[in-house]
Formats: sequence, C-alpha cells, structure tokens
Amino acid sequence: MPKTSVSSLLTWLDQSPTPFHVVLTAATSLDSAGFTRVTELGNELPNLGYLAHDGCIIAWRLGSAKGSLRIIGAHTDSPNLRVLPQPDIHQLGWSQLAIEIYGGVLLNSWLDRDLGIAGRVVDSSGVSHLYSAPQALARVPQLAIHLDREIGDKGLHLDRHQHMTPVWGSTKQSFSQWIRKVTEVADVAAFDAHLFDITPATLLGVDNSLLASGRLDNQASCWSAIEALRIASDSDHTAILVLNDHEEVGSNSATGAAGPMLSSVVSRVSMQHGLHEGQQFDRLATSWCLSADNAHAIHPNYPERHEPRHAPLINEGPAVKVNGNQRYATSARGLAHIRSIAESNDIPLQTFASRNNVPCGSTIGPITATQLGIEAIDIGMPQLSMHSAREMCGAHDPLHLVSLMGAFLQR
Ligand code: CO
Repeated sequence: MPKTSVSSLLTWLDQSPTPFHVVLTAATSLDSAGFTRVTELGNELPNLGYLAHDGCIIAWRLGSAKGSLRIIGAHTDSPNLRVLPQPDIHQLGWSQLAIEIYGGVLLNSWLDRDLGIAGRVVDSSGVSHLYSAPQALARVPQLAIHLDREIGDKGLHLDRHQHMTPVWGSTKQSFSQWIRKVTEVADVAAFDAHLFDITPATLLGVDNSLLASGRLDNQASCWSAIEALRIASDSDHTAILVLNDHEEVGSNSATGAAGPMLSSVVSRVSMQHGLHEGQQFDRLATSWCLSADNAHAIHPNYPERHEPRHAPLINEGPAVKVNGNQRYATSARGLAHIRSIAESNDIPLQTFASRNNVPCGSTIGPITATQLGIEAIDIGMPQLSMHSAREMCGAHDPLHLVSLMGAFLQR
C-alpha cells in the first residue's frame, strides 16, 4: 500500500467542484511535493515540473535520455449543469437561472439537491479568477407526486430544457451582481459558473467500505495519478501525467485529449534529452500510456447489464477495459503488460468488457494512442451511478489504483 490515505481523496473532491479547481488542487499538491510550475516550454524544463492551462494540467518527472515514457492520463471534467451567459429569469414569483446541460448528465440525480456555484470569472484584462460558493444557493425542484399521477406507471420524464431550470430565490435576483459580490472582482467581463451538490464527500456503509461523492468520474483517477507521481522514485523512464478537460463532450478542444498539450510536452522532453526525430519515434514505440477512467462495477439490482465473466466487483481492484472496436485502447500486449505489473506487486486487477447489446462509452485512451502513436492501456476504478450528481465507489479501490499507477511508472 502506498503512503497515502483515502481521506486525502475526500478533501480533494470537496475542493474541486469544476475542472479549473481540479487543476488548482492538483497544482497545490504538486507544489507541496517539490514540483515547479512552468508557464512556457521555451526554457529548460525542471526535473519535476508541471504546466497548467484552464482545465488541463500536465506534470512530469524527467528520466534519462535512454529511458522511454510512462504516461498516465485522466480527465478533469464531469457532467453537470452550467449557468448560461444571460441567466436571469424572473417569473411567477421565482428567480431562476438559465442553464446548459454539460455532458451525459443523469438528470434525475440533480433534483431536490442543495446546489452551490463555482467556476471562474475573466476580468476586462483577460485575467481569470477562480471562485467557489459551496452554500445552498440553488435547487432543481421535482414536481410533487400529486401533480404527476403517471410517474408510477410511466416513470419520470424530464424535459432537458424546461424541467432542469433551477430556482435560486423568491425575490428578484441578478446573477451578474451576485458574481461580482462573491468574487470581489469589479470588472467581470465573462464567467464560467457550474452548479454542484454541496454535500461533502463521505465514507459510507456500516463498514465504511464505500465512498460517495460527486465527480468520482473522473477525479478519483486524477487524485490517484497525482498521488502516484508524487511518491514515485526516480527512474530511467520519464513519467508524464496529463489531466485533460472536455472528455465528457468528446475531447476536441485546446485542453482536451485531442488537443496538442500532451504532444507538445512529449516533444519538448525529447528535445531536452537530445533525441533526433528518428529516436523520438523509437522512444514512442517503447513507451506506454495508462488511461484511467472509472469503470462500471456490477450493480446488485441490475446484474443482467453486465457481461458476467467481465463484471468488476467493488473493492477488488481496478479493471482493465477491453474493447476490440477500439472504444478502449487496450491490446493483448497491453493487457499482458499491466497484468504482469499487478501480479508482481500483489495488486488486485479485474477485467471489464461490455455486453454486445450495451455498448460502452469511450475514453481518452484511444485518442491519446491516435495522437502520439503510443500504445495505451485503459483501466478504471469500479463505481456505481456513473454520471449521477452523487456517485459511489469502494473506499479501498482508490488506493489500489495509486499502487498500480506507481508500479506502472517504474516498470
Ligand atoms: Co469518465
């Protein structure tokens, strides 16, 4: 077991309501482990360093010119509700906020929750300021059962536009006034404002063996990767960690996995190691990327949704994800590599494959493999309720994931 504890994950989750805050939390953790922030790639890279931009952070621990690359990737974003630029709605005695649904939200899970607001404002000079207001500010109220008699037979039907609009007061409110007050920035030119459930992350269960929180997909992987990089020892291999934004909406952005940030850092590292173009190609051919994004644990109430021989159990370790149609990048060679790492370090490891009639999502694994021409392995910590406002995983699995990632960086 690594010298880390799951309580640090709980703190991380509470401090990170948006991708911008994930980057800040990760950077703070790296700072305390002796990593240096760089703002440009033009200068000599420090041995332990990181580059952060908006919702993406890339950190590295440089190895030698003869070593190859061990990359770990995860994503900083989670499905949520986001306040639109002109949000004020005043009707029927209510103040409401116009919102946009980001990613594949489980809509029902956002009903009747006390919601805070966090994000960043950009001032008139273009400078970003992060803010977080973890108070009960807004709520998406569910319709009473007496006014929805069909709900029992037909189920809950939510119109994505009409029914997800939160209330945030019974007096006339101005969002721009509120955000100026809460951020103490006088010249707010624009903002990002994400709603989030203010209930703190917690251990759960009579045996405290479970963990409930928002944004476990995929901040549990982000936290594990940062912990693994912090405690890694020096190696000939260069360890690179990339936490990308916008995975939940397809990864096509400057800070997403299809953007250039990772490949820029990889080229810069090779340049510093004095490798010419052919040698850079050879290095990539012997390098590995571990793409971490949570997996679906088998659900006791819906076991039929799983391929029975490839259904991960809770608290039995991370699962390698396999999909021949390349929704996941893992090949037989990748599976053999990660299995051998897990076995030689006594780390439990499972395998996930989806049923042919329940297609799986994708991850940044295949995208990174395509961008860099590097072999990627998809793994994920098992969880339930993926994309709910309040997800759940095993309390022991994050530590198994840190162990696996740490061993991956050394091999
Ligand atoms: Co995910």
